[in-house]
Amino acid sequence: MNKRRLLVASVLSGLALTSMGAMAQTDTFKIGLILPMTGPFASTGKQIEAAARLYMAQNGSTVAGKKVELIVKDDTSAPDVTKRIAQELVVNDKVSVLAGFGLTPLALATAPIATQSKTPLVVMAAATSSITEASPFIVRTSFTLPQAAVAMADWAASNQIKKVVTLVSDYGPGIDAEKYFKDRLLLNGGQVLDTLRVPMRNPDFAPFLQKVRDLKPDAVYVFVPSGIGAPLMKQFAERGLDKAGIKLIGTGDITDDDILNGMGDVANGVVTAHHYSASHNSPLNKKFVEAFGKANNGLRPNFMAVGGYDGMRVIYEAAKATKGAGGQALLDAMKGQIFESPRGPMFIDAQTRDVVHNIYIRKVEKVNGQLYNQEFATIKDVKDPGKAK
Ligand code: PHB
Repeated sequence: MNKRRLLVASVLSGLALTSMGAMAQTDTFKIGLILPMTGPFASTGKQIEAAARLYMAQNGSTVAGKKVELIVKDDTSAPDVTKRIAQELVVNDKVSVLAGFGLTPLALATAPIATQSKTPLVVMAAATSSITEASPFIVRTSFTLPQAAVAMADWAASNQIKKVVTLVSDYGPGIDAEKYFKDRLLLNGGQVLDTLRVPMRNPDFAPFLQKVRDLKPDAVYVFVPSGIGAPLMKQFAERGLDKAGIKLIGTGDITDDDILNGMGDVANGVVTAHHYSASHNSPLNKKFVEAFGKANNGLRPNFMAVGGYDGMRVIYEAAKATKGAGGQALLDAMKGQIFESPRGPMFIDAQTRDVVHNIYIRKVEKVNGQLYNQEFATIKDVKDPGKAK
């Protein structure tokens, strides 16, 4: 009899715990933010976390009457770790959204979790075109490499840059950057003398830059992921490529605002195509850069920060529209959002779930003693060319 009473009591207390858990769950709206916070891509994690926290500080920590809980996890930029953390966040923490994803392989590894659990997954950093096709639950607020690559090939061809060698990191975004730049330059009557690919992690650029020097192109077109640009710039100068009259052009990942100011004179004059510069001339961006710096010891936001900030905007507005409900309804409320970002106007294409925004041609210049990517031409409302097939 005693035993039975004990059993009943423990079942009841178990039930109480469960319903308490369920209550807590309905009172909070959880966002699982998975980022590389350590290792070579830690700057991406730091920028995005800082931007997400700034968004919350500016827009309140409740949405649709629920408390927003941001759960930040370090995946050390290892795809199996990203996937395991995502699984835990969905099953144990019952997050409404998965967000972050500092590199393409990390987003691709996690896509099946989003599909199986019907959890919207907001890609704030990774930029290979195909990512949004890996799950119908993926929405992207970063950018795509083809957007930046096509714009650069058009600019090069109309600025006496006819012979180019491409030099890219050997994985998804690098291969996109190479393909879309090359095809477009050829279309414009240019020539690609060679297509060089360097390892994604700890690359030694020296032998590749030597090869570029020997080929004597008008320019070398470069993509390396954010966090890797500084050693490339240094070696470009050390190998004397600038003195040999070879121009350095590329996507904005190589003149990343996070480290641009520390690159020194070699960066001065470099022309790139990208969707965000910390010196973008709009009142909204000025406010964003100032608030970001104030909250982070003077740190300058880069394009990763903007992907995180806009990702939080998309999540907040969707949660407001669904009154905090998740799943398919939350995903649907993310599609088609149109708003002004610190980067300029942008929207989430309702069909592709991918970002549409302006691409700017920029030149590194000194402004009040600091190096900035100064935008001088705008290509408006650029859709991902990778989706046009
Ligand atoms: C990516 O892995 O998709 C990626 C990472 C960093 C970048 C761009 C793309 O700067």
